[in-house]
Amino acid sequence: MENQDWKNLGFGYRDTDYNVRCYYRNGNWGELEISSSNVINLHMAATSLHYGQEAFEGLKAFKGKDGKIRVFRMDENAKRMQDSSDGIMMAKLPVEKFQEAVRLAIKMNKKFIPPYESGASLYIRPLLIGTGPEIGVKPSEEYLFMVFVMPVGPYFPEGFKPTDLVIMRKYDRAAPQGTGKYKVGGNYAASLVEGGLAKKGGFSAVLYLDSKKKKYIDECGPANFFGIKGNTYVTPESDSILPSITNKSLIVLAEEMGLNIERRPVPWEELAEFEEVGACGTAAVISPIKRVYDADNDHEYVYGTEPGPWSTKLYNKLRAIQYGDAQDKYGWVEVID
Ligand code: PLP
Ligand code: COI
Repeated sequence: MENQDWKNLGFGYRDTDYNVRCYYRNGNWGELEISSSNVINLHMAATSLHYGQEAFEGLKAFKGKDGKIRVFRMDENAKRMQDSSDGIMMAKLPVEKFQEAVRLAIKMNKKFIPPYESGASLYIRPLLIGTGPEIGVKPSEEYLFMVFVMPVGPYFPEGFKPTDLVIMRKYDRAAPQGTGKYKVGGNYAASLVEGGLAKKGGFSAVLYLDSKKKKYIDECGPANFFGIKGNTYVTPESDSILPSITNKSLIVLAEEMGLNIERRPVPWEELAEFEEVGACGTAAVISPIKRVYDADNDHEYVYGTEPGPWSTKLYNKLRAIQYGDAQDKYGWVEVID
């Protein structure tokens, strides 16, 4: 990866050398296997292909100034994948096995980890799929867990520059008591049409409202939502949003910085009251928002064209912990040799 233009990396798929695989057969998980192939052999009747038995995760590893590699809160991703597995009746991978696979995938692809100065990182994509053939609607008896990695830049090409979101009440990403709280492929398939429309309109993502009443803010397509009002960090509580590990971390950091935390249903009208608004997630980190356009009411909520002071502080602190520049008080980071 010499001569790589790290600063303009963007968020996209890239091949790396190795991936890690683990098969579930006859009621047991096998050993971790290292593969140098980027394809899998899959039965045409696999439940992942027909009935959406698929869950994934996203986490990142960072190279520090000290040359050490750090991975952020992977136990949380491992547990969330177990929740997703429960949600769509897949075999649960033990947390330790998930962690071992992630460590191995990072170590085997060390040369792809972007240098400290670049501000880029190694994106880690674990996934779990039903591989057994079924034609009736029921869970598979066999599963494949995989981890692959790739160097990435920011999810929204603007990086830490404010972008716009759009509200379109005609579209839902998840049903009220459905799978919105799990990281399963179906949620993302459901977001493609409106996500595409948003991009075409110059917005970075859709800001979804709750599907039942269209009264409260849920989240963005690929990230949670937060707003800052005075001395308070406000973020939605909802059964149909993904429990973001980034958001959970920002809440701790915000509290430490002296902000009050409100995690509660957030009526969309409250958009008029925030001084700062952001989208947060592993891929998005913090993406500050400069405008939310309510397409149904042709109304816009405008925030600063520069990142706000609290968003900036939170962003800097989170990144400093991830890259090893700030003390890891909460044990969020594991050093991988
Ligand atoms: N919400 C959705 C729908 C996501 O896909 C993601 C990305 O993982 C997030 C929120 C942010 O979650 P996390 O901070 O754990 O990456
Ligand atoms: C992540 O932040 O890891 C995500 O999964 C978001 C998106 C790429 C789906």
